[in-house]
Order: sequence, then C-alpha cells, then structure tokens
Amino acid sequence: MLNIVLFGPPGAGKGTQSANLIEKYQLVHLSTGDILRSEVANKTILGVEAKKLMDQGLLVPDDVVIKMIEARVDANRNAKGFIFDGFPRTTNQAKALDQLLARKNTSISMMLALEVEDDELIKRLLNRGKDSGRPDDQNEEVIQKRIVEYNSKTAPLKNYYNEQGKFHGVKGVGTIEEIFSRLTSVIEA
Ligand code: AP5
Ligand code: MG
Repeated sequence: MLNIVLFGPPGAGKGTQSANLIEKYQLVHLSTGDILRSEVANKTILGVEAKKLMDQGLLVPDDVVIKMIEARVDANRNAKGFIFDGFPRTTNQAKALDQLLARKNTSISMMLALEVEDDELIKRLLNRGKDSGRPDDQNEEVIQKRIVEYNSKTAPLKNYYNEQGKFHGVKGVGTIEEIFSRLTSVIEA
C-alpha cells in the first residue's frame, strides 16, 4: 500500500495537491478538515461542538479525529492506499495512526511536507475567504491562530517521521503543476 501523510501549515496546498495525487495513484483521500466541515454542515452533535473550536482556529480533541479516521480506514478495506490530509496533527494522533495501520498489516510510507512561508499562507487563505464561506478564513487573527496551533502542536511531527526516515520536505510555492511534479518525484524516487 502507498500511505502518504500530506503535511503542511494551513493553506500550504494539502487539499489542492491531494486531488491530483489520488487521481494519479488511485488512493483514498482522508481529510479530517473536510470530514469535520461536513459534520458542521449537517449540524450533527459532533459538528456543533467541533465548529466552536474550528471557528477559533483551534484543534478539535484527538479522540474525535482518531475515531473518524479509524472508521474510514475500516470502511476502505480494499484501498490501494490513503492520503492523510490534515491528519495526524499531534503526536497522539500520529501514534494512534501507526497503531491502526499496524493492525491492518500496513504502515505510513512517507510524510510529504509542503513548505510555504507565513506571508504566502495568509495571502492565500484571506483570498480564499472572500468566497469560500469558510469561517476560519475570514480574518487574519483566526488564520494566525491556526498557524500558531500548527507551529506548537503539529510541526513537531516532522521529527516524529524524520526519526523513522519518512520525512520529505517539498517546496510548496510555485504553480500547482510544479508542486505536483515535485511530489511525484519524491513518491517515485
Ligand atoms: P483543515 O481543513 O485541515 O485546514 P488547514 O490545515 O488549516 O488547511 P487548509 O485546508 O485551509 O489548507 P490546505 O493546506 O488544504 O490548502 P488548500 O489546498 O486548501 O482544518 C480545519 C480545522 O479543522 C482545523 O483548524 C481544526 O480546527 C480542525 N481539524 C482538522 N483536522 C484536525 C485534526 N487532525 N486534529 C484536530 N483538529 C483538526 O489551499 C489553500 C488555498 O491556496 C486555496 O485557495 C488554493 O486554491 C490556494 N493554493 C493552493 N496551491 C496554491 C499554489 N501553488 N499557489 C497559489 N495558491 C495556491
Ligand atoms: Mg485542506
């Protein structure tokens, strides 16, 4: 199986590049952000609770997202592999993912980390916020909070995967095609 953690700060292009990667490699795309937004849209109990945190740019609790991922990995038994987008975001989530995949006799193949400067992230997200309707893209304060959460809780995962020899940094600035080609070069190396 090809199991990729597509990593990077808010606005790095995880969702954009996932769309191309799942097509090329026939993978299942699991984005915890997308799953949470659909819970919010359906006004489920989980969605109502998650929205309060998401709108402030804060992470939702580990157990919530871990359960979401477990259910979807279980539901895709015949998958050729997965792209994990926006998950894991904490060391606890990374450990839970390793355990889950081990139970399925598989593991993470690599982490691809999109690297983009803060100024560019803020520019992209404010621009998307004009018409995306995503409440967390509406003001710079919330975007900054998402970046702070990323730096304090999520960025340390680079070390977690580096220690396993699985970390690959990829420059996330340029055209979508250029970045896609950098990603496929790493995957196929
Ligand atoms: P999530 O949905 O994961 O959001 P995020 O990580 O903040 O990142 P985005 O989805 O905004 O950015 P992206 O990297 O996917 O970039 P995109 O391709 O969209 O999480 C949202 C919230 O949910 C979190 O804050 C948290 O509350 C909660 N959550 C989710 N997962 C969680 C977890 N595991 N644990 C706990 N809480 C969790 O691109 C961004 C923009 O840039 C787009 O407009 C795009 O068109 C544009 N763009 C893309 N590529 C380029 C390029 N090369 N050049 C110029 N523009 C580009
Ligand atoms: Mg995304």
